[in-house]
Amino acid sequence: MLGLYAYWNGSIIPIEDVKISPLDRGYQFGDGVYEVIRFYAGQLFETGRHLKRLQRSLNELFIPAPINMDELEKTMHALIQQENLAQSDGMIYLQITRGAYPRSHGFPKGPATPNMIMYAQTYPRPDIIEAGAKVILHPDLRWHRVDIKTLNLLGNVLAKQKAEEKGYHEAILHRADVVTEASTANVFIVRKGVIWTHPANEAILNGITRLVVIDLIHSLGIPFVERPFTVDALLTADEVFLTSTTLEVTPVTMIDDLILGEGIPGPLTRKLQEAFTRHMQAHSTSETRRASEETHI
Ligand code: PDD
Repeated sequence: MLGLYAYWNGSIIPIEDVKISPLDRGYQFGDGVYEVIRFYAGQLFETGRHLKRLQRSLNELFIPAPINMDELEKTMHALIQQENLAQSDGMIYLQITRGAYPRSHGFPKGPATPNMIMYAQTYPRPDIIEAGAKVILHPDLRWHRVDIKTLNLLGNVLAKQKAEEKGYHEAILHRADVVTEASTANVFIVRKGVIWTHPANEAILNGITRLVVIDLIHSLGIPFVERPFTVDALLTADEVFLTSTTLEVTPVTMIDDLILGEGIPGPLTRKLQEAFTRHMQAHSTSETRRASEETHI
């Protein structure tokens, strides 16, 4: 459920008081970046990695950060408090655009005035984390720099819509024969005890959950390769799972009309889900916990 407030260019105000110009370049060109950050029981998860990726996305688009990253983290905590979500599971959405200027494709001349909005909302852990997801296969129609978390999501939107029209949860994307990622998540497969995922290059978003899961795979000593794999390898995999901020580690049980294995989440997927939950419980940080940690240094 959406909250009542938003952070808008420097202050937290009622969300209905946010006024965005129709000339905003996010609205006109999709000229901006975003992040989705999870919190569990009011405690932010993997904030450092999200803010690092946000800074990288801004750098790649030559948009100056309108706020420093420490201040941004404090503002996220303030929003959670303001919305009374200190005990809730939820997420923060934030986006920064290049700003509002008369329409012209090239960057505006003169001083940059980026626009930043951020809001918090409740978001319970989805049922498909337990039950498994059904996915369709869909061509990857996106541009060639999807490593930047930009607002240009039409390729993702159309693929996800196709999945939903079929009553499915997600779309796994492929460029020619190579599986890249899903419309809102990264894709992993298990074949003969080895876990595979696409390498972090310009063809996928390097998901924060992906990075957490790779750390967990290493710490559990499971054989792992970061290497492109084909649609055929996906369809004949022993297990398939998705990772994202909202989906965590979600097993895939069906691809188009193909039931994967027994049609139930596989053992390595389950093992990683357990490890992920343990990691999440140990590593969500609250302002209170951070403050008390600081006094103990
Ligand atoms: N989506 N790939 C794509 C295309 C994504 O949109 C996402 C996240 C991921 C996973 O990234 P992360 O683990 O950092 O969430 C991979 C977010 C949740 C969204 O757009 O809502």
